Amino acid sequence: MNKEEAAKKGVFEAEVLSNQPIRQCYYRLNLQFDVKGSALFKDVIPGQFLELDLSSVSLPPHFHIPPHLKESAEKQVFLRRPFSFSDVINSGSKGDCVKVEILYCVLGPATVRMMTLKAKDRISVIGPLGNGFSIPEGISRAVLMAGGMGAPPILHLASYLKKNYPACSVVSFVGARTCEDLPFTVRIGNVKGLVLDEFESIQVPSFIATDDGSAGYRGFVTDHTRQWLQKNTVEPAQTVLYACGPEPMLAGAARLADDFSLPCQVSMERMMGCGIGLCQSCAVEVKTAALDTKYQLCCKEGPVFDARRVVFQAD
Ligand SMILES: Cc1cc2nc3c(=O)[nH]c(=O)nc-3n(C[C@H](O)[C@H](O)[C@H](O)COP(=O)(O)OP(=O)(O)OC[C@H]3O[C@@H](n4cnc5c(N)ncnc54)[C@H](O)[C@@H]3O)c2cc1C
Ligand code: FES
Repeated sequence: MNKEEAAKKGVFEAEVLSNQPIRQCYYRLNLQFDVKGSALFKDVIPGQFLELDLSSVSLPPHFHIPPHLKESAEKQVFLRRPFSFSDVINSGSKGDCVKVEILYCVLGPATVRMMTLKAKDRISVIGPLGNGFSIPEGISRAVLMAGGMGAPPILHLASYLKKNYPACSVVSFVGARTCEDLPFTVRIGNVKGLVLDEFESIQVPSFIATDDGSAGYRGFVTDHTRQWLQKNTVEPAQTVLYACGPEPMLAGAARLADDFSLPCQVSMERMMGCGIGLCQSCAVEVKTAALDTKYQLCCKEGPVFDARRVVFQAD
């Protein structure tokens, strides 16, 4: 998709197909878009996102609201909220039936309300927004890294690569504080130990890292990936490191890429007001060719950036 096509976005309606808890505060929301939305989303790229209008969705019963959110849940939700997709399925022959899957974490007034969405509910969507991950010609290996709620676009990227770049070998690393914080279905596999169903089902090997060692490697996902890169031969000219997660993790991914001379793309998160480049609330500091820095909008020029250009706040 060229830049002009990627810039096409619109407001449309989506119907809720299902909304189910996965674990802890994590839910999986499946939406089907109307004809307009399907046409806009049929060529969507992993890393792009949408904004949902949750202002008129009601709160769950008081007892169903997580105790630490009971107060903040009462706040009104004026602004739309940004979400990536973990999967996009186009089942219509003319691109007229697009379904997307959103993995979300309940952590405030909008996402508390999302818990109450049920089949046949309708919500307003704006999208697709932002620029997604780019796949260079000749890529033969993609190393994917996700931290916490950075998982959805990485999962989407994994299936996108498997489908559209079958010659590219894909491996994924997923990190969280504890096993319970992994936004995936974790299963004990027969041979390989812990298995993330979502990656296993698309034949992408996945490695887990948790800060407390409750699942997989004990430590940061960046360290786990570093060990793997030390043990495996990768061809820098044909390999890309893709990462999405908290900013310190993305800064770590950038250092890792630098150490192994790999190109690296990071999907950044910023608080977003409008999502379409109007409110200026989502600035990311980037380096310029003149060794200076400037600000770019995460919602418009991002959320995916070349890691070498980003001035990470965590650095
Ligand atoms: C491009 C993009 C893609 C996203 N994709 C997903 C996704 O796939 N799944 C998902 O669960 N969430 C995703 N998010 C985050 C999601 O938008 C927020 O969790 C949501 O807006 C929270 O709304 P709320 O009213 O429930 O909580 P709020 O009250 O708005 O926020 C609760 C807490 O989370 C923090 N927070 C909220 N949004 C962000 C942010 N963007 N960056 C840093 N801190 C934040 C706030 O500071 C606050 O402490 C994405 C954000 C962006 C910018
Ligand atoms: S969210 Fe308003 S300019 Fe980016």
